[in-house]
Amino acid sequence: MNTAPAAPQHRPLAVVTGASTGIGYELAKCCAKQGFDLVVVAEESLITQAAHELRHLDVKVEAVQADLASVEGVEQLLAQIGDRPVEALLANAGRGLGERFFDQTFEDIRYVIDTNVLGTVKLVHAIGKRMHDRNHGRILITGSIAGIVPGGYHTVYNGTKAFLDNFSYGLREELTDSAVTLTCLMPGPTETEFFDRAHLQNTRVGVMSKDDPAQVAQSGFEAMMAGKAGVVTGWQNKLQAAAARLAPAGLLAKMHGKLAEPGSAQRTQ
Ligand SMILES: NC(=O)c1ccc[n+]([C@@H]2O[C@H](COP(=O)([O-])OP(=O)(O)OC[C@H]3O[C@@H](n4cnc5c(N)ncnc54)[C@H](OP(=O)(O)O)[C@@H]3O)[C@@H](O)[C@H]2O)c1
Repeated sequence: MNTAPAAPQHRPLAVVTGASTGIGYELAKCCAKQGFDLVVVAEESLITQAAHELRHLDVKVEAVQADLASVEGVEQLLAQIGDRPVEALLANAGRGLGERFFDQTFEDIRYVIDTNVLGTVKLVHAIGKRMHDRNHGRILITGSIAGIVPGGYHTVYNGTKAFLDNFSYGLREELTDSAVTLTCLMPGPTETEFFDRAHLQNTRVGVMSKDDPAQVAQSGFEAMMAGKAGVVTGWQNKLQAAAARLAPAGLLAKMHGKLAEPGSAQRTQ
């Protein structure tokens, strides 16, 4: 009879940022259903509740409450991960900021840039380098189709997503000599708390019908597992993204402005 103790079960580890709500929460669910243990991160305490719910999927879940707009917040997350190999990094945390640029405070503007760009780049630099060193791992960055469109009345956000879309494809090229994959998830408008948090409630894009975050996350997760370069979710968004790549920037900014201008929710055209 074999009396040796059972070997400890080591599931692969996925780190999902912005996992308290919306697309990130659904991405964490996809990872758990695939058998990943999870480190889930968000800034507010709701992440503890999200982690509790994710544990019902029979995986280990650690919640980290950290502000990923700061280097210190990212380092807090890295300390929690420690030396453990990360199999999948889903760098999804992000926030928008509606209204006119000159009506926004610089603090709010900086917070969007620091969360979407600085925090994401710092995290991908730290965890991605370890993946590169051991020639193994998957990275998913949540960009947006907003990154293809100069965004009247959502200018800073769209600029940050242009950075992320561009950064993802560029860094992927540097990984062609390695087994590490990098995928850019580019959703269109999706039904999450994003629009309320970005003060976009009174805009056409705020009130229009949107995609289901579970479906968006599933597409992103599948693309990451398949090692694809990027995925624009939904056929309408695919069409819009294809057209946007051909249209003049000024026209795109004007069209975006009609969707995101404060008060545009009441307008019919
Ligand atoms: N919804 C859309 O239409 C849409 C379209 C394209 C791309 N995206 C992108 O999808 C990603 C997820 O957004 P969502 O739509 O799911 O919105 P959401 O429900 O508002 O989720 C955003 C998540 O990011 C976290 N987060 C924001 N700032 C953070 C910070 N400084 N530090 C740590 N966590 C932070 C939030 O946690 P806290 O609440 O704790 O801050 C939350 O968990 C974002 O990158 C967004 O830009 C969204």
